[in-house]
Amino acid sequence: MAADNIISLKENIDLERLPQHIAIIMDGNGRWAKSKGKPRVFGHQSGVTSVREAAESAAELGVSYLTLYAFSTENWKRPLFEVNALMRLLLQTIKDEVVTLNKNNIRLNAIGDLNSLPKLNREHLQKAIEETKNNDRMTLTLALSYSSRWEIVQAAKKLAELVKAGECEPENVDQQYFESLLTTTGMPDPELLIRTSGESRVSNFMLWQIAYAELFFSQKFWPEFRKEDLYEAVLDYQCRERRFGKTSEQITKKK
Ligand code: IPE
Ligand code: IPE
Ligand code: MG
Repeated sequence: MAADNIISLKENIDLERLPQHIAIIMDGNGRWAKSKGKPRVFGHQSGVTSVREAAESAAELGVSYLTLYAFSTENWKRPLFEVNALMRLLLQTIKDEVVTLNKNNIRLNAIGDLNSLPKLNREHLQKAIEETKNNDRMTLTLALSYSSRWEIVQAAKKLAELVKAGECEPENVDQQYFESLLTTTGMPDPELLIRTSGESRVSNFMLWQIAYAELFFSQKFWPEFRKEDLYEAVLDYQCRERRFGKTSEQITKKK
């Protein structure tokens, strides 16, 4: 897309009505690579540029939280060769990007079953999280070995333990309390969920948190995703009427 078109897309965004939290299901690396006659891993490597573009554009706009689905608990079932390549790429990317994250004042965070990651990945991830913890422009959360059902079950387990230990009364459990046991505690729910690659499904991602998110399905494969694609999704989001169960009249009266 021509540079002036990108600028005009960005200029049309109402900065007063930005989503605070955008979540992205980064999909289509393998198919993109295949369409170019390349191995799937080439698609994953190329997807790193899109991660940078998404993080930069979200931070530049003023979005406070960006959460990227990078590896699901189900992705462990892929061929070992691909899983290993993804873990190596993750490690390299974490190591390479800390400087840029600090330069851009972005805090790194991770959610998921992090104990299942290779030891080296876990260590470098914790180090990067520690080294960026004082940054306050945007929080970039990587969902790694994450799935919503895993998250909800581990929250239920924690709850059972708390009740058993007498630290929580069942009648005190409400939505707010349950949320405090999820990996996303402290973050606002995503108002906008983007999935690339033309697939219209959520693949076990943030099922609790996206209860009222606006969904945007991009036809682009993840390695093709650029700043203008994020702007397009935000502009589309801003054209929606979010009713939260109410009537349209109730919503417009409030304005
Ligand atoms: C997304 O791309 C990256 C991960 C799930 C790790 P895919 O690898 O799922 O690519 P497709 O969907 O097979 O094209
Ligand atoms: C979802 O993509 C997981 C990530 C983007 C990390 P998948 O490619 O694993 O999802 P399905 O299998 O098409 O639903
Ligand atoms: Mg996929």
